[in-house]
Amino acid sequence: MVSQLASNNGHGQDSSYFLGWEEYDKNPFHESDNPNGMIQMGLAENQLCFDLLESWLTNNPEPASFTRDGKSNFKHLALFQDYHGLPEFKNAFVKYMSMLRGDNVTFDPDNLVLTAGATSANETLIFCLADPGDALLLPTPYYPGFDRDLKWRTGAEIVPIQCSSSNGFKITKPALEEAYDNAIRQGLKVKGVLVTNPSNPLGTTLSKDEITLLLNFVSSNNIHLISDEIYAGTVFNGPDYTSVMETLMEKKWANDKDLIQRVHIVTSLSKDLGLPGFRVGAIYSNDPVVVSAATKMSSFGLISAQTQHLLAGLLSDLKFMDYYISENQRRLNSRHQMIVSGLKKAGIRCLESNSGLFTWVDLRHLLKSQTFDSEMELWKEIVYSVKLNISPGSSCHCSEPGWFRVCFANMADDTLELALQRIEAYVEAKANKNSHHSKRNARRMRSLSKWVFRLSFDGMGDKVPEER
Ligand SMILES: Cc1ncc(COP(=O)(O)O)c(C=O)c1O
Repeated sequence: MVSQLASNNGHGQDSSYFLGWEEYDKNPFHESDNPNGMIQMGLAENQLCFDLLESWLTNNPEPASFTRDGKSNFKHLALFQDYHGLPEFKNAFVKYMSMLRGDNVTFDPDNLVLTAGATSANETLIFCLADPGDALLLPTPYYPGFDRDLKWRTGAEIVPIQCSSSNGFKITKPALEEAYDNAIRQGLKVKGVLVTNPSNPLGTTLSKDEITLLLNFVSSNNIHLISDEIYAGTVFNGPDYTSVMETLMEKKWANDKDLIQRVHIVTSLSKDLGLPGFRVGAIYSNDPVVVSAATKMSSFGLISAQTQHLLAGLLSDLKFMDYYISENQRRLNSRHQMIVSGLKKAGIRCLESNSGLFTWVDLRHLLKSQTFDSEMELWKEIVYSVKLNISPGSSCHCSEPGWFRVCFANMADDTLELALQRIEAYVEAKANKNSHHSKRNARRMRSLSKWVFRLSFDGMGDKVPEER
């Protein structure tokens, strides 16, 4: 027998988000070995710049080979490390965080807590801020993993801030207030708002107005603001990206120590550097109490010293990092253009976006009815017949059926091209089927009305009805 927590459904393994991955694993696409297999478009991985990272490793063999200045540092890395992390790594990490934000803001390495990815950072932060039963407000649609990361082991609750397509899923004051009131009505104590900026799954950045709205809201309600900024390095187009930490430096907030201490960032190297397997993430907080508690908690998910050592070498090569950041953005931009124009050819529209590794696709016109059951039906058809694993909006708690997250940076150009061809063929076949149906229906309607006409004529004795 295992514990209730371990055996409950808190992981969300049976959500369509994770089920799609399972289906993919059963029949993965391979260009030569399995060309009819399923193409994985449900995984926000960035595989576009491995050539750059690999050539850096070739040119800089020391960090990966347990040496420094020609001498072995194996023992130093293999022995016990405390949970504060390697100083050279933290120094390099905060500089990299500044670079991603155009050097408009600096970060203090003492405020940084290292964790095994953003998954661990988010859970650790919620553990530090919320008691079981406390609520976090999250704008919808949101990253499906949050149900696991924020709630499962901490016992915290998520209350949705309902955003809608009518304004491009922007966060509004009424939606924030409604979510807050809903939480109170459910008897929950609201501990904070958590946003992703850039957004997963929307691929959009928060506007300055939205950040100001959020800061005003958390300030007046005396709660926390968590900004998950793990996609900060994926902003490939305007409008300009603003981190909440930059906005906090404005005159209005700069002396509000209380508020400054209630704003926290989550970051990781999983998305912009494409290194989710290295498990490198961090919490950045201006509150020393949170930093201290999170540092102790981080014992449960440390980054190995070997990984920190390797990445300290990489991140402190500022010239390379500068080049990497802009080249990564350039490649993401061209991928994004490729998918958006390919979908457009199939008559499919995407939410206008400027960041992320995915696009938020509007398939409402392909639903039989505007319901989540129809969304599931369409999703199954796309997974099993078209052989594309995409994520339905319902798995992201979207309030409107018919939206899907489609990833574009985890495959080769040719694979994306094939995926787009499959979608186009599917949409065309569906349209033909519908028009065939409607022609058949029209024929049926015509013979039905003839029949009705005859019936009514028969019933009228020798009276001839008026022609219509
Ligand atoms: C918004 C967001 N936060 C956190 C994570 C988890 O990232 P990591 O691989 O660093 O744990 C993801 C992964 O997709 C994400 O999209």
